[in-house]
Amino acid sequence: MKKLIYLFFLLSISGTIFISCQKAGSDVPYQAPELSLPDVPLDYTDDFPSHFANVQGFDNTPFDNPTTDDGSTLGRVLFYDTKLSLNNTVSCGTCHQQNKAFSDGKKLSPGFEGQLSTRNTMSLINPRFSTTVTWTGQTIPYEEQVLQPIGNHLEMGLENLDHLATKLQKVDYYPELFDKAFGTTEITHELIAKALSQFLRSMKCSQAKYDQGFNNDFANFTALEKMGKALFEDDDNGCANCHRSVNFYYGNEMNIGLDMDYADEGAGNGTFRIPSLRNIGITGPFMHDGRFETLAEVVEHYNSGVQPHPYLDWRMKDSNGEPKRLDLSETEKQALVAFLHTLTDEAFITDVKWSDPFE
Ligand code: HEC
Ligand code: HEC
Repeated sequence: MKKLIYLFFLLSISGTIFISCQKAGSDVPYQAPELSLPDVPLDYTDDFPSHFANVQGFDNTPFDNPTTDDGSTLGRVLFYDTKLSLNNTVSCGTCHQQNKAFSDGKKLSPGFEGQLSTRNTMSLINPRFSTTVTWTGQTIPYEEQVLQPIGNHLEMGLENLDHLATKLQKVDYYPELFDKAFGTTEITHELIAKALSQFLRSMKCSQAKYDQGFNNDFANFTALEKMGKALFEDDDNGCANCHRSVNFYYGNEMNIGLDMDYADEGAGNGTFRIPSLRNIGITGPFMHDGRFETLAEVVEHYNSGVQPHPYLDWRMKDSNGEPKRLDLSETEKQALVAFLHTLTDEAFITDVKWSDPFE
């Protein structure tokens, strides 16, 4: 009996060794990752609807990192992989959730140790056409910007970028994905950044109710939405002078008089980059600090709440240099909110191309 137990013991040890060698051994055949990567290509295409013609010129795709199907597919896996954080708990997709147009519905967002980010998570809207990035309007390419959250001590905490590359090199599904995308199995943080940037540039948001009506006189709009559109475009209200063109975006930073004394001065003097308003109906809470819960509160700020900050943008002032009061009626306020809701693109937030491949 003793012998039998001994034999059993020996067998189980050697079994364990055998199994662990198999895992670590280099001659083990490559295991396809258990990722549901759909066949839908993610490649760069110019097939934005014609009304995007005047923003096409802002395309920020660099010559040395064209968007390809394999590159953005790798970027997609990286985007949703929690291994990009120090303790494997947070991915880009934790804060940038597709069903909320890549925002997260929170005022501030918990990072890898549960500590909160210092600003509200931005939605990701047609990143290909952005001229500056983040709330402070940094003039750096995505190839640099995407490494910021990874290294950030509150967000993902992987401060040493060489460790990041070494870490991913050991993950079984990456070598093949890097090989397909860049023709090398050797992972570097530069290639990680390139792939993530390609995934961002593959995003296409162009099928909102607003887009469907664009070449049809907005015949699909309700009377209230039409009224809101007119108010939005009205020079006296000024919305469209800042939230410009078809992305309702502008790369410059401005002070819109949220406070007299800003706790976060943004790019300096309380200025923040003008965010895109696409999908704004689903990306609250609003502003760089998530201070407003509803669009009605945002509209009320512009209507009656603008503070006489010394750096208040001139578009926010009346002819006497005082903060503008729009004096909108209740119906007009509701109309502006109704118009903002026409900018929600259901196709973008449900398309499997940009969804989580680990789910
Ligand atoms: C803990 C939450 C969190 C995580 C994780 C996170 N982000 Fe962000 N993201 C933010 C916040 C907050 C901002 C605004 C930062 C600022 O302005 O200071 C932002 C801004 C951005 C922007 C700028 C958008 C614009 O319109 O300018 C991009 C692009 C972006 N993140 C991509 C990523 C990528 C790629 C990853 C993963 C490598 C990632 N984020 C991980 C919270 C997060
Ligand atoms: C002077 C330029 C300017 C004008 C005019 C302007 N905005 Fe803004 N808007 C901004 C800036 C800058 C921000 C971000 C401010 C911040 O977070 O501190 C912003 C933020 C917003 C947000 C929240 C965005 C988000 O992602 O949280 C909404 C909604 C909005 N504006 C709608 C409007 C409407 C509606 C009007 C017209 C009544 C208008 N804006 C007029 C510059 C402007």
